[in-house]
Amino acid sequence: MSVIAVVGAQWGDEGKGRVVDYLAADADLVIRYGGGNNAGHTVVNAHGHFKLHLIPSGIFHERTRNLLGNGVVINPPALVTELDGLVAAGFACDNLFISDRAHVVMPYHVLLDQLEERERGAAKLGTTSRGIGPAYVDKVARRGIRIVDLMEPDLFRERLATTLPRIRRLADGYDDAEMADAIDEATDEERITAAYLEAGERLRSHVVDGQALVDDALTRGQRILLEGQLGTMRDIDWGIYPYVTSSSPIPGGASLGAGLPAVAIDRVLGVVKAYTTAVGTGPLPTELDDADGAALREQGVEYGTSTGRPRRCGWYDAVAVRFSVRLAGYSSIALTKLDVLDRFERIRLATAYRDPVDGREWSTVPASTSVYERLEPVYEEVTGWRTDTTAARTWDDLPDGARAYVERLEGLAGVPISHVSVGPEREQMITREVDR
Ligand code: GDP
Ligand code: IMO
Ligand code: MG
Repeated sequence: MSVIAVVGAQWGDEGKGRVVDYLAADADLVIRYGGGNNAGHTVVNAHGHFKLHLIPSGIFHERTRNLLGNGVVINPPALVTELDGLVAAGFACDNLFISDRAHVVMPYHVLLDQLEERERGAAKLGTTSRGIGPAYVDKVARRGIRIVDLMEPDLFRERLATTLPRIRRLADGYDDAEMADAIDEATDEERITAAYLEAGERLRSHVVDGQALVDDALTRGQRILLEGQLGTMRDIDWGIYPYVTSSSPIPGGASLGAGLPAVAIDRVLGVVKAYTTAVGTGPLPTELDDADGAALREQGVEYGTSTGRPRRCGWYDAVAVRFSVRLAGYSSIALTKLDVLDRFERIRLATAYRDPVDGREWSTVPASTSVYERLEPVYEEVTGWRTDTTAARTWDDLPDGARAYVERLEGLAGVPISHVSVGPEREQMITREVDR
């Protein structure tokens, strides 16, 4: 292993955190390359049960360095809370580094996220309300505040003072009386200055020139993991626009957001759940509104890590995964949560979509969200294995039906499945020899 990108291949929450935690035992450096604290990456290991939002999932390996890359948007007080939680749990976190080029999520980004969602009404995107979209908007509009600016208190004060009048004008434009207090709070110069400079001081010793750190690791031939946020179907370019996030979870975003040459990435590991889940709105062709959907939610404990929202659940969608395979070029796939299907008598998987309007069959994801919304899945059905797989540690330990299901997904994806997980714990991972 030298540089491996770990990327979500569906709608997010595929189990990227647990896969990174597993692989990080052999890594020197783990880099989060995009998103912010909209992420919720759960790691269950010998030390306990952790929900990470910003901090990379390699943090539990003391000798592994962990970097928040330039592509991440950081809410400093939220990061301090997360950091303090880990320190209280016994992790010194001296192995955490923050790129000085990462952008800062400000309280007014969170406010604007909420105001925009309220204004969208029924057409809301179902964002995590963490200010992620507005922070990336400011980055692209070339008026964002970066971590490097936060490290210079006078500069930070100046940037804030010149920004707030525009934000107040913007917020007033929403004319939302219910949000008046929230608007006052999110534009309170003194309060923001105090909270952000305090958080900045707490984080100062972790702030580095991220590119220099990455370059050093590459030069020394160290093993690097690139940790993705969310998944292809929420990618700003390739996801179900506008029900997407504001960054690029696919590997194209990894080089940019981690700060290393694209050619340095040796392998891309796609993380795929054995069925489908999503939080937030937008089309989800295989969504189940029945007892099977409820069973997937309960067996899989499908509730959002960041927001606690029940996740929408459905059967495996081979069209969406194949779309992701084409965009991301996975070397292999890590299939997670196979055990969640253990009790099902029959399991379905969508191999295509059909348009009920013109009868057309689709083998890819349409650009038009309104077309996508009406497409119906074409299912294939397999018999469930009805055997507990959680104790399986090798491929041969799996029941025949489970192996056949994995092999069918492999065939549909056109990419080898190198890892199969049968539980959230570190050791509940089966590895398979694959050619690529
Ligand atoms: P991420 O955002 O991609 O890191 O995924 P999340 O952590 O949000 O969601 C995945 C959830 O599934 C977490 O609660 C994990 O602990 C859990 N999980 C991961 N792999 C498995 C598995 O193989 N089986 C079961 N039952 N749970 C798993
Ligand atoms: P991880 O990294 C699942 C969803 C939101 C919404 C859309 C845009 O744990 O997989 P945003 O707040 O990013 O502007 O919301 O993306 N979303 C996630 N869904 N897992 C996540 O992160 C998510 N981060 C954002 O629900 O639909
Ligand atoms: Mg998650």
